[in-house]
Amino acid sequence: MKILVTGGVGYIGSHTVVELQQNGHEVVIVDNLSNSNIGVLDAIAKITGIKPEFENFDLADKTKTEDFFKCHSDIQGIIHFAAFKAVGESVNEPLMYYRNNLFSLVNILQSMKDNGVENLVFSSSCTVYGQPEKLPVSENAPVQKAESPYGNTKQISEEIIFDTVKASDIKGIAVRYFNPIGAHETAIIGELPLGVPNCLMPYITQTAIGIREQLSVFGDDYKTPDGTAIRDYIHVADLAKAHVIAVERMVKQKMKKDFEYFNLGTGNGYSVLEVIKSFEKVSGEKLNYKIVGRRAGDIEKVWADTNFANDELGWKAQQNIDEMTLSAWKWEQKLALNNK
Ligand code: UD1
Repeated sequence: MKILVTGGVGYIGSHTVVELQQNGHEVVIVDNLSNSNIGVLDAIAKITGIKPEFENFDLADKTKTEDFFKCHSDIQGIIHFAAFKAVGESVNEPLMYYRNNLFSLVNILQSMKDNGVENLVFSSSCTVYGQPEKLPVSENAPVQKAESPYGNTKQISEEIIFDTVKASDIKGIAVRYFNPIGAHETAIIGELPLGVPNCLMPYITQTAIGIREQLSVFGDDYKTPDGTAIRDYIHVADLAKAHVIAVERMVKQKMKKDFEYFNLGTGNGYSVLEVIKSFEKVSGEKLNYKIVGRRAGDIEKVWADTNFANDELGWKAQQNIDEMTLSAWKWEQKLALNNK
């Protein structure tokens, strides 16, 4: 199958491109490199032996998107990752987030409609559940008011797809990620945060390697066993595999409804301190960290009910927390070697 992967040069996108190619699919990537590095294309080729076709443009540009689809009428499915994702930045620059994340989706859907492309897998987030009342959180849990413009773009995007599916032949699968961490087993691709990382795992590995002085643990007064916040960390390669299954499910017409939602997590919650302990164990490094106040907008705890994804997709995340933190560490060490 020929699959368009938007944002395919980025962190989750690049791992998905590798899995798609290794499952025999042809990939074309569209990415404007606003938060990614062109060198990742060669890195993908190093792993799979195939350099994916690549076009550099902004999907928020309607004309360029239309022109692209006219030249690629044989695309059978789209996995749409390309989006801005920094929560704090979205609070300061809401219009930038609404324009980038929503215009690109509308342009893609319009071009899908105009060119008879029917299958869209959309990168969503567990952020749509806010702080769920019941844990683990299932796909049936109510969507709660978004805490940030970024989160709101994910909710609105799901609604835009829902309405478009109702009114056309287009079908959609929204995959709601929990917290992706780790890197490819070869340590040839991984997360490449620009500047100071917002997320926990790259902050931990950058601190251990000496790029950052100290990790701040945001809050130890949550109602959790050790007081720090709990998340469902999932290995990025496990997440990538679920995308391949989702897009194949669509193209092979195995969907039960025209718009489906899946939680992609492991079903296990780990606190910030438990992630640090796992990292220290697998790396043999002592991490320099201190407890500080809570980060605004953070929820206390969330982990996924994975039953629906496990049963319907026939997919289950395989890697445990130690394997995840170790792969993140190997990647950070590889980056350090490359930068020497
Ligand atoms: C992340 C993303 C969010 C996405 C969600 C689900 C960010 C900022 N947030 O949320 O966009 O929707 O995953 O995929 O990118 N922590 C520290 N110190 C740090 C960094 C984090 O203690 O320096 C803590 C946080 O308070 C939180 C946990 O670690 O309890 C995880 O944080 P993070 O990796 O940023 O992920 P989320 O905030 O859960």
